[in-house]
Amino acid sequence: MLDAKVTELLNTQVNKEFYSAYLYLDFANYYTEQGLDGFANWYNVQAQEERDHAMLMMKYLQNNGCKVTLEAIDKPGQTYASFSDPLKAGYEHEQYVTGLIHTIYAAANDVKDFRTMQFLDWFVKEQGEEETNAENLIKKYELFGSDPRALYMLDGELAARTYAAPSLVL
Ligand code: FEO
Repeated sequence: MLDAKVTELLNTQVNKEFYSAYLYLDFANYYTEQGLDGFANWYNVQAQEERDHAMLMMKYLQNNGCKVTLEAIDKPGQTYASFSDPLKAGYEHEQYVTGLIHTIYAAANDVKDFRTMQFLDWFVKEQGEEETNAENLIKKYELFGSDPRALYMLDGELAARTYAAPSLVL
């Protein structure tokens, strides 16, 4: 069994990851409504990745004999005033999630739970990549978003993103 606080934080993180998937589906729905199918695709793929994160957290808890409790998922409930709003909200959200992962890592470190620290190493790296991706998306939008032709090209680029299963296998 894992330490009670580490277990609680991991269980909470399951919910946070499902919320992330829900939030990104909300972004995808917004872009679909706006006719930007490439942006929608990018966030639909991102939502799949977030669901994977939740599943990995659950699997890890179960592999360690811990009970998983699924809580209600908050509704995203945001309104987007411009195409760039979800991009910025996504970047802020990833920074928030990075903080959550670091908190769990610190709690595991406090009780010398090296197994959980090793498990979380993948998430620490993943968060770095996700923050970079989110930031790059903002930069690209700021460069090209005001020109309809360039926006069309960027949308086409984002349409090419495909889902890949996570490299972490439990
Ligand atoms: Fe599961 Fe985007 O962090």
